[in-house]
Amino acid sequence: RIQGPLTGKKVVVSAGPTREFLDPIRFISNPSSGKMGLAMAEAARVLGANVTLLHGPISIEIPDRIPSKTFVSADELFNLIKEDANADVIIMAAAVSDFKPSTFQQQKVKKEQADTELKLTRNPDILEWLGNRKNEGQVLIGFAMETENLRQNAQKKLQKKNLDWICANDLAGESSAFGSDENRILLLSEETEESYSGTKQEIARKILHRIFSAD
Ligand code: C5P
Repeated sequence: RIQGPLTGKKVVVSAGPTREFLDPIRFISNPSSGKMGLAMAEAARVLGANVTLLHGPISIEIPDRIPSKTFVSADELFNLIKEDANADVIIMAAAVSDFKPSTFQQQKVKKEQADTELKLTRNPDILEWLGNRKNEGQVLIGFAMETENLRQNAQKKLQKKNLDWICANDLAGESSAFGSDENRILLLSEETEESYSGTKQEIARKILHRIFSAD
């Protein structure tokens, strides 16, 4: 057992994209690689935490030292989160699809069906649900990707979802954080603001050190 500020704490981290299937072979998703979430899980483990990584369909390898469970859709992730909703720390780094197809077609949609309209329904906001039922002492950490007004939009999400911390990615500019090994993050709480750049591993360590190491 590693001794550190998170020793004895249960930490749940979600990572990667969701897939929302509209027929047996087609889905709505996004390019999330799961790298930032895995880096957060590794960093929490190094601080002594008992970590569980919940991850969507990703191609990076999850080391055996990180216990993990898999999900495909947002609804599946929601079910996994409900099982662990009392964890001491929950880090939502997954890129959860905001929408899913309103109906699932049991058979492959045929290309002859010209002008097919795809109806979408909102997915549950898992992090907002967690924020509404937050336990005493529980720490909720969210992520936000923004293409404009990074600070204001992230601050709004922090409040709306009742989070303790939010890690905001600036997607403006040429390089996207999606899939990259490097990142730049603005870490916000109600009162504080810090910005970190470097590899996702370095940033994850800095974020958790800032939040959990009292020095
Ligand atoms: O509101 P927005 O989707 O930008 O918020 C991003 C944060 O909320 C991330 O931490 C993401 O994991 C979480 N989220 C969620 N459920 C959703 C959408 C986002 O938990 N349906």
